[in-house]
Amino acid sequence: MSKKEVVETTEAQIAVHWKEENYYYPSTKFIAQANLNDVEVFDRFSLDNFPDCYTEYAELLTWYKYWDEVLDSSDAPCFKWFKGGLLNASYNCIDRHLKNNKNKTAIHFVPELEEEKIEHITYQELYVKVNEFAALLRDFGGLKRGDRVTIHMPMSAELPITMLACARIGVIHSVVFGGFSASACADRIVDSNSRVLITMDAYYRGGKLLNHKVNADEAVKISADDGQVVDKVLVWQRYPGKISSDTPMVKGRDFFVNDELKKFYGARVEPEKMLSEDPLFLMYTSGTTGKPKGCQHGTGGYLAYVTAMSKYIQDIHPEDVYWCMADIGWITGHSFIVYGPLALCASSVIYEGVPTYPDAGRSWRIAQELDVNIFHTAPTAIRALRKLGPDEPAKYNYHFKHMTTVGEPIEPAVWKWYESAVGKGEAIIVDTWWQTETGGFLCSTVPGLSPMKPGSAGPGVPGIHPIILDDDGNEITEPGIAGNICIQNPWPGMLQTVWGNRQRFVDTYFAQYCKDPNSKDWRDWPYLAGDAATRSEDGYYRILGRIDDVINVSGHRLGTKEIESAAMVVDEVAEAAVVPVSHDIKGKEPDLYIALKTGVEPSEELARKISDAICDQIGKIAKPRKVWLVPDMPKTRSGKIMRRVLGAISNKGDVGNVMTLANPEVVEEIKHMVQK
Ligand code: WTA
Repeated sequence: MSKKEVVETTEAQIAVHWKEENYYYPSTKFIAQANLNDVEVFDRFSLDNFPDCYTEYAELLTWYKYWDEVLDSSDAPCFKWFKGGLLNASYNCIDRHLKNNKNKTAIHFVPELEEEKIEHITYQELYVKVNEFAALLRDFGGLKRGDRVTIHMPMSAELPITMLACARIGVIHSVVFGGFSASACADRIVDSNSRVLITMDAYYRGGKLLNHKVNADEAVKISADDGQVVDKVLVWQRYPGKISSDTPMVKGRDFFVNDELKKFYGARVEPEKMLSEDPLFLMYTSGTTGKPKGCQHGTGGYLAYVTAMSKYIQDIHPEDVYWCMADIGWITGHSFIVYGPLALCASSVIYEGVPTYPDAGRSWRIAQELDVNIFHTAPTAIRALRKLGPDEPAKYNYHFKHMTTVGEPIEPAVWKWYESAVGKGEAIIVDTWWQTETGGFLCSTVPGLSPMKPGSAGPGVPGIHPIILDDDGNEITEPGIAGNICIQNPWPGMLQTVWGNRQRFVDTYFAQYCKDPNSKDWRDWPYLAGDAATRSEDGYYRILGRIDDVINVSGHRLGTKEIESAAMVVDEVAEAAVVPVSHDIKGKEPDLYIALKTGVEPSEELARKISDAICDQIGKIAKPRKVWLVPDMPKTRSGKIMRRVLGAISNKGDVGNVMTLANPEVVEEIKHMVQK
């Protein structure tokens, strides 16, 4: 993307018209046990102490050799953290815990079928499995340090085992979300030049056994057409015999891991001593244009950062049972199911399936059974759980002390249900704003230090110094005026580059505000996150959504989230999505899609009530063109509402390929309703 294009994605400042919410305070009981309750931390992590402050995070890890330099900016903006240090991520997540905690559960794996047994894998068992699989990858897979491997697996205990085995031998993993199609997987195989694909035979989702191996066959075919030969497909078997007959194994290419592993029973593999700046993994993410980009995360910086965030923001203690409901195929799962919690020797829950399967009580039964006390999920799941079973949590005997929300802005009404119904008024909430690119959190309250404010992520976490800039690079200091949120300083968790495309890395995240492209000074390289945000008087940031999610109505820019949030205040509303529709005079108008709570009948009167609520809260300027009361929102398999599809319907455009959605059938229904 050229600099000009980047500039064009952002426009003038916008005034945001929402009211500030009241604070919620952590209990003294929570504060007393918190890992971080010392206010001095913000001084220690001030810009004056940058970058040395970050050694505090690095010291949470075990190093074979300490670093020579905390931050090397000589190739800015490709920053190197803890340069010259030597460590291994699998050693830090497993081996170092064996002396005192080998019998502790590292992973609780919960299959979707309730009649299947929950697996409890101890650190010693994890050590054995990771070593054996690492030996297989090295001796049978022919993989060595620096090679890339694509992993396309569903939620299972074997997924972190595979990742950690790669890390043990210095192989760079690229995990593709299990719900992604074969062609998405192929794009990633080709871009990362993987010649080994690791997959699984089958898994349950929504009560159905899905054949997953079939995707591997297709992905390998597409990759070959694009010039990347995959010469080995390693297939973990969860359900031997159940599905494999439908997808024959290709001789000489496909191998069942379960068979091959027998040759490696008892094998032990010395962890590779990796340089801190060696890449640990790639995670592909979509940008505004072009193919997904491979965010490259390093070993020492990334691991130090996610370990610190898990300790200080997630507040994980060794005795906690921690459940993050995200998929490991996303960055949240990498950082906050696998690397962070395991580096801290926590017990991390992995759930295979749908949170509301077979009924709205499922998540709370899991929490009760495993005595989960730290819970981590996304607004989309919270809304789904609220819609299906608002009173379910009270029926189960579990108690969370800490809850996280991540992934999109959360409407205050939903936040409050999360706090009172799911948290039973006992849990603190952190609203963590960050990205695939950032490795770990950017903004959040520190749970033992700062009060919460529904709908606001909070200030920068210790060491992160956000700033809001207008399109010309001037700081916006006035509270409540939105602009582009940037981070003034690099931090250890940030991506090192875009895999194989340094120019795209520079263009996407730095070109707009870089003061001098030849500068070796980190101060000249503020990181552009691509989100619009406002800061309020108390220094809390409110994220409005992606820069392109802002609607310009008659010259007034409105955050789609702001309108959605206003709609959520109406009691009958379960989910709301706003998309811009072109308008001759106003430029754009918001079109509002609403899914009602179960049992509520759609009516003209209700549509009017929702429209009025928006006018009341924001002003007539935000009045939707139309309120569409739809049977369900089109959603990705990971649960994100596909606003792109709704936008295409509203604007009578092409909805594109919708077959990869969780509910493609709903698209036709909505089209019929809107375009008739
Ligand atoms: C959005 C997910 C508001 C934001 C970790 C960001 C959020 C994008 C929040 C990154 C939050 C993430 N409040 N918005 N707490 N967390 N976002 O790469 O627009 O899948 O840029 O990483 O999600 O999504 P990604």
